[in-house]
Amino acid sequence: MISFTNDQIFIVTGASSGIGEATALLLNQLGASVVTVARREERLQMLKQKAHHPEHIYVEPKDLTEDIEGLPTYVKRLREKYGKLQGLACCAGAVEILPLRAMDRKTIQRIFDINYFAPIFMTKGFVDKRNNNGKGSSVVCIASIAAVRCPSGMVSYVGSKGALISSMKSIAREVASQGMRINCVSPSLIDTEMPGDIERLYAEGRYPFGIGRVEDVANMIVYLSAVQSQWITGQNYIIDCSSIWG
Ligand SMILES: NC(=O)c1ccc[n+]([C@@H]2O[C@H](COP(=O)([O-])OP(=O)(O)OC[C@H]3O[C@@H](n4cnc5c(N)ncnc54)[C@H](OP(=O)(O)O)[C@@H]3O)[C@@H](O)[C@H]2O)c1
Repeated sequence: MISFTNDQIFIVTGASSGIGEATALLLNQLGASVVTVARREERLQMLKQKAHHPEHIYVEPKDLTEDIEGLPTYVKRLREKYGKLQGLACCAGAVEILPLRAMDRKTIQRIFDINYFAPIFMTKGFVDKRNNNGKGSSVVCIASIAAVRCPSGMVSYVGSKGALISSMKSIAREVASQGMRINCVSPSLIDTEMPGDIERLYAEGRYPFGIGRVEDVANMIVYLSAVQSQWITGQNYIIDCSSIWG
């Protein structure tokens, strides 16, 4: 059975809603301490109220895109404040559906900032050996099945998630000698604030078990953060039931 102790400290970004919130709550339920990061402080405070062990939830409101190059220093400050880190779950993200003809550099940059650069620079801070618990510490990043399926009108989103998967595999090689693990999970349609009406409409009938629940993803993130997955690194797990149709 997966369990943690409260001196095992995880950072969860995007914890104010959806998959990040479910991941933070599950880690905390299983005994870990969780530093929750997102812009909406009131939502992080609500999460703390819902938590099994609220005394081990720490609220850290932040816009992860305001100073991306400063994120490694930000992680260092969190370590100084709360202690050495056991894990990082990068769940913050944003989606944009826009045809190529309507796209400009600014739009692509905005999506890459939160979906690609923020997790990369958070990971850069985390893997610094002064900030983590060494062997057994783990990073999990949420990519997307869209990076594989590449639906039309999602140039920036699929590009950012595809780049994230590739970079994380490369980082996994860099840090393996320190006993650290890095993996991605790539969900298909999950019931959160993110999917729009068009995606939900398109999904009708394609999911034999219905649209995914946030817990379906959180369970995998927690598994990849725990000692039970100690032999797994550099992987990208697709979380989906619709691919059976091809
Ligand atoms: N839902 C799906 O169908 C699906 C499928 C595949 C992949 N994903 C991926 O799963 C991850 C979680 O998405 P979700 O579905 O749970 O959506 P969500 O409920 O909209 O959550 C997105 C989270 O990202 C945070 N965030 C966005 N911009 C931020 C910024 N600049 N700084 C800090 N935090 C920021 C949001 O918090 P604040 O607004 O409070 O900052 C929120 O907590 C994303 O990476 C998404 O791409 C989702």
